[in-house]
Order: sequence, then structure tokens, then C-alpha cells
Amino acid sequence: MERENRMSLLEQLVVQAHTDFAAATDAAALENAKAKYLGKTGQITEQMKGLGKLDPDQRKLQGAVINAAKEQIEAALIARRDALADAQMQARLNAEAIDVTLPGRGRSVGGIHPVMRTWERVEQIFASIGFDVADGPEIETDWTNFTALNSPENHPARSMQDTFYIDGADNEGKPLLLRTHTSPMQVRYARMHAPPIKVIAPGRTYRVDSDATHSPMFHQVEGLWIAEDISFADLKGVYLAFVKAFFETDDLQVRFRPSYFPFTEPSAEIDIAFGSGPLKGRWLEVSGAGQVHPTVVRNMGLDPEKYIGFAFGSGLERLTMLRYGINDLRLFYEGDLRFLKQFN
Ligand code: DAH
Repeated sequence: MERENRMSLLEQLVVQAHTDFAAATDAAALENAKAKYLGKTGQITEQMKGLGKLDPDQRKLQGAVINAAKEQIEAALIARRDALADAQMQARLNAEAIDVTLPGRGRSVGGIHPVMRTWERVEQIFASIGFDVADGPEIETDWTNFTALNSPENHPARSMQDTFYIDGADNEGKPLLLRTHTSPMQVRYARMHAPPIKVIAPGRTYRVDSDATHSPMFHQVEGLWIAEDISFADLKGVYLAFVKAFFETDDLQVRFRPSYFPFTEPSAEIDIAFGSGPLKGRWLEVSGAGQVHPTVVRNMGLDPEKYIGFAFGSGLERLTMLRYGINDLRLFYEGDLRFLKQFN
């Protein structure tokens, strides 16, 4: 009886150890559970100590039974240790997993703004027909922006352009302003260079104006060719060559429509009409132009009896809109990537 009880106690210990080991969810808990059975005062150890009291026959028999239980508990311990280590490794693998099938995170590349593209194209095309490129200030004096260009004070032509004035004055006490056109560059450049003068001056310009086709800041390109024998015919030839190159087509007509600008006489608006495409057959205004007024030639520091030439001023936004078929100028300034991405 006694022996059967002991065996069942050992069997119970084995079952209990399995349960305790299974309940241990990390290595430290498992070592604690192990101590309960196999430690110095563990229950199996205590059983071993009890063997001393038995006579040799009994001891041998009972010793074997205890050992068998101990081995089972040790096996259970090792199995649980391995299982915990595996689980830990699996958790780490999951946590640190790199999914090599994920698509890469793209870094988008910036692009050139469509109006800047036009600016660059205009420079390239005019450079190819012998024009220099000049840059000038956006804050201008009243004299350079108006007076030198034959728009004296109180002249009605001044109200053709609604001007942003800024704080500060020039040395004549006249208010400074944001240039309303690139035309002041005609006079600035001519006063610093000897004829023949053949230059374009692209840049930012400003007017109090804002709707689908006007922005308070916009871009123009000024053209100027002054020499002893430059006529309106040269203006026609140069501008036709330019628009054909710019729009990449020979199937295009140019028309010079009489107009008025204070700084040119005669003055014209340049219209173009495409022979094909969505805008086919419609006359589209692209530029102001004319023969430089003798007063302006004089303000350039040149003798109008000797020097003659032409000038033009074209809108870079306008050229861009026609080239790409854009109908609202505000799109250029909203910074919407859906719009801008199309040009890159
Ligand atoms: N400056 C004029 C404007 O902004 C455009 C222009 C017209 C420029 C005739 C010229 C020109 O050089 O000859 O409306």
C-alpha cells in the first residue's frame, strides 16, 4: 500500500511538473518551477534524501522509481526550455522581419516649372539667332519704367498699367515701383552697351491685376535690336522664326495688328494662328512690338537719326498656355503637383 502511495505521489509530481512548466511563459519562471522539483529543497530531491532511511533492497527499488520520475521531469524541463527558446526566436523573427516583396518607398524628384521651361526655351531660341540675354531689377524707378519709355507724368498712357508702388524713393524723390513690364530693360541695357544692341531680357513683372488670365506677378520677355539699319521687316523675320521654333511647327501664321504703345512708333500687336491642332485658325495675341520711338532711342543715349530698331514684349505665361493648351493662368501659381507633374 505504502509503495503504491509513494508511486502515485511521484506520478503526481511528474504530472504537476508538466503543468507548472507549461504555465511558465519565460525562462525565469521556468527556472523557478524547476527549483520546486529539482532544486536543493525540491520535492524530487527530498524524495532522494528519504532513501537513506530504507533498507538496501527497498532503497534500490525505490531509487530506480524516483530516478525514473526525475528523468521524466528533466525531459519535460528541457522540452519546455526548447519550446520557450523557439517561441522567443519566432517572436523576434516576426518583429524584425523585412518584407522584401514590399515596393520601395520612392523619393520624388523636383522638376522645372512650366513657365521656367518656357523662359529657358526662349533664351535658347533667341541665343541661337544671336541675341544676348540680360537680367535687370524688379524694383524700378519711375524714370526707367515710364518716363524714359516716353510715358511722361500725367500722360494717359501711364494708366494702361496699374502699378504697385513701394515705400522709398529714387534720388529725384520719385516713388519706387515694381516694374510693370520688362521694357525698362531696353533703356538700362542700351545705356550700358554700344550698338549694335541685340538682346532679350526675360523676367518677373508686376501689375495690380488678378483673374483667370492675369496674375499680379507674371513674366515677360523683352526683345531689343538696335543698329543703323534694323527695320520692321527684321522684326517680322525674327519673331516668325521665334514662334516657329517655340511651337515647333512651320504650320503657323503671324499677323501684325496696328496698336499703340508710347515707346514704339509704329506699334503692333503680334498675333499667331496655328494651321492645325485644337487652336487651329484662331488669331491669338502673343506680343506687343514696334519700331523703337525716337524719344526712347534718345533716352538710350543714342542718336535717333543714326540708330533705329525694334522691340517686343511677350508674356511667358501666355506662350506657355498656348504651347501646352492651358486655359487658366492661376494653375501656374497654385503649386498643385497634379498639374505641375505633367511637365516633367
Ligand atoms: N511693355 C509692353 C507691355 O507690357 C509690351 C511691349 C509692347 C513691349 C511693345 C515692347 C513693345 O517692347 O515694343 O504691355
